[in-house]
Amino acid sequence: METHAPSLHMSLSTGFLSGSGIEEVSRKIADLPGLFADEPARARMAPDTLVYRVQAFQPVPDGTPGGLYWGTTVIQPGQVGDEYFMTKGHFHKLADRSEYYIAASGEGALILMDTERRARWEPMTPGSVHYIPGHTAHRVANTGREPLSFFACWPADAGHDYDTIARHGFSARLLCVDGRPALVEEK
Ligand code: 6PG
Ligand code: NI
Repeated sequence: METHAPSLHMSLSTGFLSGSGIEEVSRKIADLPGLFADEPARARMAPDTLVYRVQAFQPVPDGTPGGLYWGTTVIQPGQVGDEYFMTKGHFHKLADRSEYYIAASGEGALILMDTERRARWEPMTPGSVHYIPGHTAHRVANTGREPLSFFACWPADAGHDYDTIARHGFSARLLCVDGRPALVEEK
């Protein structure tokens, strides 16, 4: 019987993926107009400031029923006004598809919103495991001073619905209030 070395390696401390077939995307301040509440503050920042980076291992074609994807997201520490650096956030295109997040390093917050627009958040600390149910928009904010890194596992046919969030946003934002994270409802 033949033995194959796995084609993927992940650092358990940082989540960094290496090997073949890894897709990477970076989101800089210039790529995120309209995401943060304080758009003028975002527009004043250096456009090439890195906000987050995603590495994804997608061993089967996009949309394959039964397939699983694996990825690592690293969000830099920082704020736009009093709002923490965060991901764009999305529902899955196949809306009932769920997902796991596991925090690797840093401190953060998983912000969740159901289809009734009820929002809640879960603190992320190294080793915390987060189950994101279907029909639930998800976004992560870095609330610490170091990069926040987390692993994700999601179905290959989940897809991403960014449009709903781009149009309507989340119903609440994670702001730094008196030096601490607070989920503040949108007015
Ligand atoms: C997914 C995961 C995850 C997510 C990144 C970046 O469904 O693929 O939730 O990999 O895409 O953390 O967040 P955004 O996709 O919202 O920019
Ligand atoms: Ni997702």
